[in-house]
Amino acid sequence: MGSFDISGRHVAITGASSGFGHHFAGVLASRGAKVSLGARRVDKLDVRVQEIRNNGGQAAPFALDVRNSDSIRAFIDAAEAALGPIDVLINNAGVEAGAKTYNMIDEDDWDFVMETNLKGAWLTSKAYTEKIIQGKRKGGNIIMISSITDTRTIKGQFPYAVSKGALTRMTEVMALEGAKWNIRVNALAPGYVLTDVSRILLESERAPEFVKGIPMRRFGEFEDLDGPLLLLASDASSYMTGSVIAVDGGHICASL
Ligand SMILES: NC(=O)c1ccc[n+]([C@@H]2O[C@H](COP(=O)([O-])OP(=O)(O)OC[C@H]3O[C@@H](n4cnc5c(N)ncnc54)[C@H](OP(=O)(O)O)[C@@H]3O)[C@@H](O)[C@H]2O)c1
Repeated sequence: MGSFDISGRHVAITGASSGFGHHFAGVLASRGAKVSLGARRVDKLDVRVQEIRNNGGQAAPFALDVRNSDSIRAFIDAAEAALGPIDVLINNAGVEAGAKTYNMIDEDDWDFVMETNLKGAWLTSKAYTEKIIQGKRKGGNIIMISSITDTRTIKGQFPYAVSKGALTRMTEVMALEGAKWNIRVNALAPGYVLTDVSRILLESERAPEFVKGIPMRRFGEFEDLDGPLLLLASDASSYMTGSVIAVDGGHICASL
């Protein structure tokens, strides 16, 4: 069995200033990984990095806007200069456009969500892959943070759900193409956990009804992602690529 040990590995996380990314940084650092945290709100990254260092971990904060390819390259370069070659990239940065149906969103909503959730994940993966190819490295590991909206439909989350459907397909195609350089590409597809992205739904009047649709009858907690995250980030998943792991209390198995 491959090891779950990630000590000494360098993990770069996009969107680490709040929510999942903020949590993942702490979990991975507590297991001995070196973590690079990227996001636009650098003040929040600074606080998180200080917390991790106070707990004995290694971490560094970097300004990052995944809608801008120059910013992405600067993030990858600076992270590698600070903590060494990136072993694992987590494409986690994500946004939503409010409770709107496809006829209600405008072009700005579409561009904002697609450029962050989809184009950003591609551009960051591309910049990371170039490092691996140019450096003739042994391989790489990319983890996408998708969503159960990648396979099931939901009203009022357009274009978020569209971006996640495409992100899952991006995971699969990158797995196919990246195998040539021993780059593994997998995704976590979380169910609903209360964060700024999901607040619009989980704090709405629909929430009690919504939770009834989850076989385990509760929303997720950040900690529910820890085991699957460690699996994908470590050699324990060394024969996995193109896989999408749902972590959702059975939500995608809900009765029709
Ligand atoms: N919460 C859920 O129930 C749920 C379920 C399934 C999947 N997800 C996914 O989990 C991921 C994280 O979301 P979250 O729920 O943890 O919400 P969150 O707390 O709002 O976190 C989103 C993160 O993305 C970052 N971000 C947004 N735009 C960015 C940009 N242009 N460049 C760099 N970073 C950017 C934000 O940082 P800055 O604003 O500082 O840039 C923030 O750190 C998203 O991909 C989301 O779709 C969430």
